[in-house]
Amino acid sequence: MAVKKLLLLPGDGIGPEAMAEVKKLIAVMNTQGAGFETEEGLVGGCAYDAHGQAISEADMEKALAADAVLFGAVGGPKWDPVPYEVRPEAGLLRLRKDLELFANLRPAICYPALASSSSLRQEVVEGLDILIVRELTGGVYFGEPKQIIDLGNGQKRGIDTQVYDTFEIERISGVAFELARTRNNHVTSMEKRNVMKSGVLWHEVVSATHKAKYSDVKLDHMLADAGGMQLVRWPKQFDVIVTDNLFGDMLSDVAAMLTGSLGMLPSASLGAPDPKTGKRRALYEPVHGSAPDIAGKGIANPLAMIASFAMCLRYSFNMIEEADRLEKAISAVLDEGYRTSDIMSEGMKQASTSEMGDAIVAKYRG
Ligand code: NAI
Ligand code: MG
Repeated sequence: MAVKKLLLLPGDGIGPEAMAEVKKLIAVMNTQGAGFETEEGLVGGCAYDAHGQAISEADMEKALAADAVLFGAVGGPKWDPVPYEVRPEAGLLRLRKDLELFANLRPAICYPALASSSSLRQEVVEGLDILIVRELTGGVYFGEPKQIIDLGNGQKRGIDTQVYDTFEIERISGVAFELARTRNNHVTSMEKRNVMKSGVLWHEVVSATHKAKYSDVKLDHMLADAGGMQLVRWPKQFDVIVTDNLFGDMLSDVAAMLTGSLGMLPSASLGAPDPKTGKRRALYEPVHGSAPDIAGKGIANPLAMIASFAMCLRYSFNMIEEADRLEKAISAVLDEGYRTSDIMSEGMKQASTSEMGDAIVAKYRG
């Protein structure tokens, strides 16, 4: 079986604590013949401390050569004073840019055991399993001009520019349609074509891409503001949502919070398929940050990192059975009452980071 090259970048704060639990899983899978070959690198504040950069050229090389990157978290107050160009977050931005990770996948899954702790009614979220596909490298966060102009009359003008080209919309909607085929075959595209030219183009290109290559998938269009409303009204109507960078930033945060704690939320960022091998560049990371307030205490919730690894199995290695098994293990361990402190509630079993990881490993092994 071909070797699967994984680069682990645990980063700062609770990043390494969460990554340690994934390493346990990798070890178990390797005893079952998975064939993971792991390398480790530095990113963020720890990389800055080691060599004055948020990620070294050598580690960038490793990231480019890997089949997938697993990323923990970066940052913390210790590095607040460091120069802007080498701040910890610069490491993540460099990875996203150099690997051309244009598709950000944020699932919102509601585990039955946690449904009662959602801010929405239990029946609205129970069993929820939707996927938001956010365009990550274009749109208003990157469009030019982007500046603040002094108008000279005591007024200033702040300008950001929403720009999308056909190819950017084609490739992100292609990712959404392909993922929908592996799920419930339904894509909802969200923009604001009623007030934005880029929204008119978005609608047009998504429709054309659908017609040309994915007409077996059900496609709906929704204005993004209405989409936000529908997400909190009846989120189970969705399967895959595809949207731009700005709307995706907000809608994915809303969708994520339907389902519970920051410590539970995984993500994937995918690039274009290699023309020769068909393999996509990919980086998997929890949505949460380095949580300096709890770092070093052994109490961080490792499930977001573990669920990110499950996404890695699914999307980078087509290990669907293993991914399903790992996701079921998370659900089962929660059903049994294991809780790290961020999701603790009365009558449940308090677990440390490593106790939670061990419980998942035991369940996964079966
Ligand atoms: P954060 O996500 O690190 O923490 C927010 C709150 O959630 C804290 O109270 C934390 O203890 C809790 N929390 C987060 N993850 C948890 C987990 N797995 N288990 C239990 N509790 C958890 O966000 P914050 O505090 O805004 O940022 C802290 C640092 O992380 C900053 O330096 C920030 O720049 C960085 N950051 C890095 C990100 C990344 O590496 N992708 C993303 C977000 C923030
Ligand atoms: Mg955000």
